[in-house]
Amino acid sequence: MRIKDKVALVTGGSRGIGRAICVRLAEEGAKVAIADILEDEARKTADDILAAGGQAQVVKTDVTQLGQVQACVRQVTDTWGAIDVLVNNAGWDKIEPFLNSAPETWEKVIAINLRGPIHFCHTVAAQMAERGQGKIISISSDAGRVGSTGEAVYSACKAGIIGFSKTLARELARAKINVNVVCPGPTDTALLQQVSSGEKGAKIIDAMTRAVPFRRLGQPEEIANAVAFFASPDADFVTGQVLSVSGGLTMTG
Ligand SMILES: NC(=O)c1ccc[n+]([C@@H]2O[C@H](COP(=O)([O-])OP(=O)(O)OC[C@H]3O[C@@H](n4cnc5c(N)ncnc54)[C@H](O)[C@@H]3O)[C@@H](O)[C@H]2O)c1
Repeated sequence: MRIKDKVALVTGGSRGIGRAICVRLAEEGAKVAIADILEDEARKTADDILAAGGQAQVVKTDVTQLGQVQACVRQVTDTWGAIDVLVNNAGWDKIEPFLNSAPETWEKVIAINLRGPIHFCHTVAAQMAERGQGKIISISSDAGRVGSTGEAVYSACKAGIIGFSKTLARELARAKINVNVVCPGPTDTALLQQVSSGEKGAKIIDAMTRAVPFRRLGQPEEIANAVAFFASPDADFVTGQVLSVSGGLTMTG
């Protein structure tokens, strides 16, 4: 157990990659707070952690609402003292050509994927800086590194998370806070099924899989492995880094 008794706050921990991150961090000994809009599913993740002998709590939170984010951080801090690890994982996308997309969709994509992590980082990093310790890990995407057809605004947000995290890594190093980014490639989750449903969707998934040198989708647990590394003391001297976990889909220098 590499992060025994540390407090980890994971956004979007109800299902998919976020759920796998919550379970894995709990296995590493962390107390896990799950911030998500899907309260029932979040409760299921928490119950599974409790059943395995871990500690978990659910805080229903919409990452797009700064007031809710502040209340969430207050609740977790009041119950467990402080937050040692923040994982910005909540995300959302709608795959469509940019020229067909509507301003309401841009707003939703930006609010969840970009403003959400900004809200959480601003709120949590303040208390981490006071304590002179902390790990922040944000889930971006290979779309943010190299672009992805049908995901223009999402890619902009995910690229934004990379620049934002590198800047925070520089600003917060003196407070001994590590800030790193994990970029999944196509990963087998509800989000992937949702954005690529139907016959056309099956073709998109097939094309995505063929583009991966390992010729398969990623599993949520494989993303969680990378998060567990960044959250652990093994990564104490690692900051401002971007790690793709995508079977070799992107190999940027
Ligand atoms: N699945 C993939 O292929 C893939 C690839 C690259 C990056 N990602 C990224 O990984 C992360 C997790 O994606 P996933 O595939 O597990 O998706 P998912 O849809 O299965 O899970 C996303 C979670 O985020 C939560 N969420 C959405 N909007 C929220 C909001 N406003 N406030 C709080 N919670 C909210 C959802 O309720 C859900 O529990 C996202 O950031 C996504 O962009 C996924």
